[in-house]
Amino acid sequence: MVSLVAEMRQFLTQLAAEPLAPFLALWPEAGTVDRQLMPNSLPVLRWLPQTVGLASEEARGLVRRLVETAVFLTWGQTYTVSDFGADFLANYGWTELIGLRGPVASKQLACGFLLLGPGIEYPLHWHEAEEVYVALTGNGRWRRGDEGWQVRPAGSVIYHAPWQPHAMQTTTEPLLALYLWRGGNLVQKSEVAK
Ligand SMILES: [Fe+2]
Repeated sequence: MVSLVAEMRQFLTQLAAEPLAPFLALWPEAGTVDRQLMPNSLPVLRWLPQTVGLASEEARGLVRRLVETAVFLTWGQTYTVSDFGADFLANYGWTELIGLRGPVASKQLACGFLLLGPGIEYPLHWHEAEEVYVALTGNGRWRRGDEGWQVRPAGSVIYHAPWQPHAMQTTTEPLLALYLWRGGNLVQKSEVAK
C-alpha cells in the first residue's frame, strides 16, 4: 500500500501540472501505514481490471498497481440509493489512500481513486474543498460550472474551485480518476441539487 502511495506521488509529480503543485506540497511522508483498515469490496470493482487497458501510457503502471492492490483497500461510497439511485451505487466507488480516513494520515490533503462504471452520470455536486482530478482513463465526459460537457482524454488535469459544481458522465467505458482535495472539510458529503 505504501508503494501504491509512492507511485501515486511519482505519477502526479511527473505530470508537472500547475494546479497540482499546492496539493503535492501537502503530500505526507509515508514510510509506513498510519491506519490499519478493513479491506472490503464494492460492485463497481468489477470494472477495475478493464481500466488497465484504457489507461494512458503514462498511467498504466499506476493503474496496474492499483488493480493488484485493490483487494487490500477500503472502498467507500458517499451517497445512498436515495441520492442517485441503485444503478449509480452499483457503478460508483472510491478509495482514499491519504486523508482523515485513509491508511496514510493527513489533515490537510485527501487523495484517492474514483471509479465509475459505464453508462452512468455522477450528477452535479459541490463541496468546500478545492479539488483536482487526473483522469487515468479517457472518454469520460466532464462538466464544470456553467461550462458544457467535455470529453477529457486520459491524463487530463481537471481543477474544481471550492463550491464549484461539477459532474461526470460515462458512456461505454468505465472511468478511473485520481482525486486530490485540500482545504475545508476533507470528509464532507458533497452537496447536490435537490
Ligand atoms: Fe468533487
